[in-house]
Amino acid sequence: MTLLVTGGAGFIGSNFVLDWLADPAAEPIVNLDALTYAGNRQNLAALARDARHVFVHGDITDRALLDRLLAEHRPRAVLHFAAESHVDRSIHGPGAFIRTNVEGTSTLLEAARAHWSGLDGNARAAFRFHHVSTDEVYGSLSPDAPAFTETHPYEPNSPYSASKAASDHLVRAWHHTYGLPVLTTNCSNNYGPYHFPEKLIPLMIVNALAGKPLPLYGDGLQVRDWLYVGDHCSAIRTVLARGRPGEVYNVGGWNEKTNREIVHTVCALLDELRPDPAGPHARLITHVKDRPGHDRRYAIDARKIERELGWRPAETFDTGIRKTVQWYLDHADWVAGVQSGSYRDWVATNYAAR
Ligand code: NAD
Ligand code: DAU
Repeated sequence: MTLLVTGGAGFIGSNFVLDWLADPAAEPIVNLDALTYAGNRQNLAALARDARHVFVHGDITDRALLDRLLAEHRPRAVLHFAAESHVDRSIHGPGAFIRTNVEGTSTLLEAARAHWSGLDGNARAAFRFHHVSTDEVYGSLSPDAPAFTETHPYEPNSPYSASKAASDHLVRAWHHTYGLPVLTTNCSNNYGPYHFPEKLIPLMIVNALAGKPLPLYGDGLQVRDWLYVGDHCSAIRTVLARGRPGEVYNVGGWNEKTNREIVHTVCALLDELRPDPAGPHARLITHVKDRPGHDRRYAIDARKIERELGWRPAETFDTGIRKTVQWYLDHADWVAGVQSGSYRDWVATNYAAR
C-alpha cells in the first residue's frame, strides 16, 4: 500500500510527509513535486535514507508521468497538495495559478480516474482522492458574520482563490459524474516549520531578525483564522481514514486574529527569545499600501469535522506560535537557503511599489 502525494516538498506537504513517515509502521509515500521556488528538498532531508520515501521531480500537468507513477506504485490514495499558493504572486502573475491549480488538478483527476477504474473489488472501494483546499474560496466575511460552513457560497476574490475554487469544482464534478471517491478539505491559514518567508508569519520573523521593516498591508486589521500546520496534517489523516467520499470538511483553528495582533505577538516573542539591543522589534512595523482586493476576514466553522470525525486542533495559538518562532531561531541555515536570488527578486517586485 502506497500513497501518492503531490507538492510534498512545499510547506504543508513536507510537514505531512514527515509526520506520516514518523510512524515506523506507516505506508510508503511517492512524493511528486515540480520543485518550484516553493518546493525545497531540504525540508525532506531527514528522509534521505528512508526507503519508504520515493521523491519524483515532476509536474502534475504531465499526464504520461502521472500514468506511469500510478501504474508502477498502485497507490491506495492520492493526496493533492501541489499548488501555486501565494495570493500576492497570483496578483502579479495569474497564469501559473491557472496552469497548476486548474489544469494540473484536472490532469491529476483524469489520471486518478483511469487508475481507479482499473482497480477491482476492495482496492476500488478503498481508493481515495484527497484534495487539499483553502477557506479563501468562500470569499470575505463582514466583522459579525458567522464563520464559513461547508455550504457557504463560493465567492473567490483573488486569482489564487478563483483557481482553487475552480479546482474544488472539478473535484466535486469528478465525484458526481464519474463516482471518483474524492474528499475535500478547506483549511484556514497555516503556520509552522518550513513556511516559506513570503507569507505573513515567516516573513515577519525573518525580517525582524534582520532588522528590516515589517510591512503590514493597509490598516493591518484584516482577520485570519490560524491553524498550526501539524494540526492540519492530523485533520488530513483523519479525513483520509474516516471521511465520507464526496464530502467537504472545513478545517480551522478557532483562532481569529488581526494581522496587527499576529505581528505584535511575533515581535514580543522575539523580544523574549532573541532581544535586539537596538530596541523592541515592534519598532520595525511599517504600514504599507494594501493588497488589491484584500479579503477582510476569514473564519472557519470546524464543527462538522469535529462532530462527524472527532477531530480538533491540539495546539493553541500561544503554543503553536512559540514553537514556530523557536523553529526559525533554530534553523537559520534553512532560512538562508531559501533566501536565494529568486526570493530577493520577489521581495523587490512585491514591496518596491508599496
Ligand atoms: P507551497 O507553495 O508551500 O507548496 C506547494 C508545493 O507544490 C511546492 O513544493 C511546489 O514545488 C509544488 N508544485 C507547484 N506547482 C506544481 C506542479 N505543477 N506540479 C507539481 N508540484 C508543484 O504551498 P502550501 O502552503 O504547502 O499549500 C499546500 C496546499 O494547501 C495548497 O493546495 C494550498 O492551496 C493549500 N492550503 C494552504 C494553506 C496555507 O495556509 N498555506 C491553507 C489552506 C490550504
Ligand atoms: O486562508 C488560507 C490561505 O492562507 C491559503 O490558502 C494560502 O495559500 C495562504 O498563502 C494564506 O493566504 P493569505 O493571503 O491569508 O496569507 P498571507 O500570509 O499572504 O497573508 C496573511 C495576511 O497578512 C493577509 O491579510 C495579508 C497580510 N500580509 C501579508 C504579507 C505577505 C501583510 O500585511 N503583509 C505582508 O507582507
